[in-house]
Amino acid sequence: MLKYVIRGGNPLHGEINISGAKNAAVAIIPAALLVDGVCRLENIPQISDVTLILRILDELGASVRVINRNTVEIDSSKVRRTCVSHELSRQFRASYYFIGALLGRFGSGQVSMPGGCNLGARPIDLHIKGFEALGAEVEVKNGYVLAKAPEDGLTGTYIYMDQSSVGATMNVMLASVFAKGTTIIENAAKEPHVVDLANFINAMGGNVMGAGTDIIKIKGVKSLVGGTYSIIPDQIEAGTYMAAVAAAGGCVRIKNIIPKHMDCITAKLLEMGVSVVEDGDDLIVSRTGPLKHTNIKTLPYPGFPTDMQSQVAVCLCLADGVSMVTEGIWENRFRYCDELKRMGAKIQVDGKVAVFEGVSKLTGAPVRAWDLRAGAAMVVAGLAAEGVTEVDHTHHVERGYEDLVTKLRNVGADIQLVEEPDDVVCHDNVG
Ligand code: UD1
Repeated sequence: MLKYVIRGGNPLHGEINISGAKNAAVAIIPAALLVDGVCRLENIPQISDVTLILRILDELGASVRVINRNTVEIDSSKVRRTCVSHELSRQFRASYYFIGALLGRFGSGQVSMPGGCNLGARPIDLHIKGFEALGAEVEVKNGYVLAKAPEDGLTGTYIYMDQSSVGATMNVMLASVFAKGTTIIENAAKEPHVVDLANFINAMGGNVMGAGTDIIKIKGVKSLVGGTYSIIPDQIEAGTYMAAVAAAGGCVRIKNIIPKHMDCITAKLLEMGVSVVEDGDDLIVSRTGPLKHTNIKTLPYPGFPTDMQSQVAVCLCLADGVSMVTEGIWENRFRYCDELKRMGAKIQVDGKVAVFEGVSKLTGAPVRAWDLRAGAAMVVAGLAAEGVTEVDHTHHVERGYEDLVTKLRNVGADIQLVEEPDDVVCHDNVG
């Protein structure tokens, strides 16, 4: 097993270039199945979830040509299978986007039930209801979700989402690209990656309107043609490095982002006494003085993202006074708090609320990355802590952060990825 070994205490100085957004890439790459002809995707993050998706495309019979580390060309003309093997799909949650893409293009899709619930219950009932509303028959059998369109194809309809769901909104969008007539998704998710998927579909000749608002309208088209598309920068990766600067101190230019996507995170860092200055496509983040306490509640976009909860919570551990964090999306997203307590943090968790009493310092300790973002928070804590922090289960972090170690070393962090003689393998992945 690999672990990060971090000698904390170095303020961070320099520049970090942000990669393409994981949560956009994991939907847009399967969406290449909808395209007739060659689809060239740029700014794809080199992370393990993307590697898995490309393997799935290959397994289905698509041709995947790697142009360089962040660009691929996908040709789906030879796809003959519509079933994604359990072996690959169980390894990450976003494999559910293959159901929508395969159903939309080939009239049938079979994917293993996404597993690994370590944020609490992670149902896909809204995805299934959406496919059914379009006329598909959906069956959950032998651990697989099997969706099948009627002989004459899917038909556009009105779909009300009981809850704002990123996954269900994007999956229904994928399934309805060729549906007859118009599909209307009400109470749609508004996250930047929802908009990015709509932009991708439109760039290939589709007709999606309203992405980024509560109501998305998809007018069915006959086909999508090939083309080139560049994935948006990763809001959460950028936010993680902003939190790292806030926690460890220093001044870093976070490059190649969409500053508007960062407003929900920037607002909280400003409240905490961190300086965030916009400069074109960059944000300059610096912290020299003490951190101030604040309260945070995670909400759907444009609220504060649940995927940034743990990284900013590390800063609250070190802020003057008492702060409260309320998790508004998931049932169980405070598991990382026990790890932070091992580093000297003072935290009380009660259900979906955690209270942080600021301490003057954290001290290095061996800690576990419980999942992707919890693992990123352990890295942020290690950078700020006195002494050595060892973070294990790093495979979670590698799912979502391209070149994490190199990017942090380039701004002065003392972090290494080290092989540890241990054969424990964990499959509890989440998206
Ligand atoms: C996506 C992100 C994840 C992020 C989450 C919330 C990807 C690959 N993952 O996950 O990083 O934490 O958005 O911003 O993009 N729900 C239902 N039924 C459903 C689907 C969802 O009840 O069928 C509920 C969930 O339990 C949760 C809420 O809706 O309480 C939001 O979930 P959703 O937005 O769907 O999360 P994901 O798409 O799985």
